[in-house]
Order: sequence, then C-alpha cells, then structure tokens
Amino acid sequence: MTAGATGPATPTDPELAKVERIFDRWAPDYEKNEWYKAQGREVLEHLSLTGERLIVDVGCGTGWLLRQALAAHPEARGIGIDLSSKMIERARENAEAEGLNRVRFVTGNWEAAGADDGTSHAFGGKADVVFCVSAFHYFRGPRAALAKMFRSLRPGGELFLLDREMEGSALTRIWGGIHRFLLRDHVRFYTSSRLLRWMEEAGFCDRRVVTTIRKRFRGGKLYTSLVLLSARKPGASDGASGAVGGGERGA
Ligand SMILES: C[S@@+](CC[C@H](N)C(=O)[O-])C[C@H]1O[C@@H](n2cnc3c(N)ncnc32)[C@H](O)[C@@H]1O
Repeated sequence: MTAGATGPATPTDPELAKVERIFDRWAPDYEKNEWYKAQGREVLEHLSLTGERLIVDVGCGTGWLLRQALAAHPEARGIGIDLSSKMIERARENAEAEGLNRVRFVTGNWEAAGADDGTSHAFGGKADVVFCVSAFHYFRGPRAALAKMFRSLRPGGELFLLDREMEGSALTRIWGGIHRFLLRDHVRFYTSSRLLRWMEEAGFCDRRVVTTIRKRFRGGKLYTSLVLLSARKPGASDGASGAVGGGERGA
C-alpha cells in the first residue's frame, strides 16, 4: 500500500502544511508524552476483539495505540493513517522494532482519502474497528470525516472516538476560542451531544458516551475534559442503517 492510495497529504494547503509541520517536528519525541498514551489506554480498556479483526486508526500519530491493540490481539491486523510523514516513519520503525508485521502505516489526509479504496482495501476488507483519538478536532469537515469512518467499517463494526469536549470544561472552551479567534485555524472542539448527533446522521447506531474524564490533573498532567464515544455501524440484525452521512461543520 502506498501513500498515494489515500491521497497525498496536501502540502499546498497552508493550514494542513502547518499541522503536518507541527507533528513532523514532534514525531521523534512524541511517545515520551504520557498524556497521549493515557488517552490511548482509555480506548484499550474498552476494546474487546476476537479473531481476525481489522483495526483502522485515523490520525494514528506514531501508532502507539494501534501497536498496543495489535500486541494484545494477536490475530488482529491494523492500518494507521496520518497526515505527518514523520509520524508515519516513526510508526513504521517502532512496529518493525517490535516485530509487528500485521500493520500498515500510511501517510495521508483522512479528509482527502477515499476511505473505500484506500485504507479499507490494504488488507482486502472493511474495518471491524475504527479509532480516532485526539485527531478529530483537526478535521475541517467533521461530519464528512465521520461519514467516511462509517463507510470504512463493515456492518456491525465499531468506532471509538476520543477527543476534548466542550461540556464541563472552561479550559477547552477557552482553548477552542483561541483557535477560532486568535490562531484562526480550523481546530475545533465539540460537545459530546453534538458529536453523538453527527454520528446518528452518519448512520451509526448504539451511540454512547463510554467515559468522560474531567479530572484536571491525572498523573501530574493537566487534563481538560475528554470524552470517549463509541458507536456501531448497523449490522444485518439491526435492519436498515438509515445513513445520510456527509455534510460539513456547523449543524
Ligand atoms: C494529537 S495527535 C494524536 C495521535 C494519536 N492518535 C494519539 O492518540 O497519540 C493528532 C494526529 O492527527 C493527525 N492529523 C491531523 N489532521 C489529519 C488529517 N486530516 N488526516 C490524517 N491525520 C491527521 C496529526 O498529524 C497528528 O499525528
């Protein structure tokens, strides 16, 4: 699988190029950051997989979470996609060092990617599980990004989305305001209820808040309000999906 299969990261887009630069610079030291690993552990705690499952990690960074999930589930396979080529380089190096060959890491912009022809076909099928951890707030078209996650899942497959959320956190609201009005970039944080509504629009069922973390400090690190949401793509036993999908931010 090549980077081109999911569409190139878009260096000509100044905002995307900026995000890419930030994470390219961060890549060598990224896994020293316990804050992001703690978020990954929240997902791992709620993941239960059996057999030959395919996990797709959207905005996978250096792939720490995906590698942990695969190490814990020896029959599972994984695909990680990230905008930052340096993050992907690290992910590949780390996977190789760990002897993990059930994973592919792909450089690409999820929002430009054809999820149906890119990530989902690397191992010849649709995903059983999609992760999106601390990456959703970068998407310019969050509803379209969710619809793409929905399409990349097989019927019955599950999405885990973890991100900061606006409910119960003045700090996140301030941080969101800084992005919107001072930095004027496209980073946005949302309320859980909005995310759940967008999941419903995309066609997901069994939408729920798995856990909310509102502790200010945990393990000596500042946490704002984080939420882990999960939802499922309807399977044969769920009847019609009623997916409408697509659309852009602003509902
Ligand atoms: C804060 S890091 C989180 C990485 C990883 N999911 C984790 O939990 O450690 C956010 C990641 O999202 C990636 N990202 C941002 N926008 C993206 C996009 N449009 N497509 C793919 N990846 C993107 C960044 O390059 C970065 O590696």
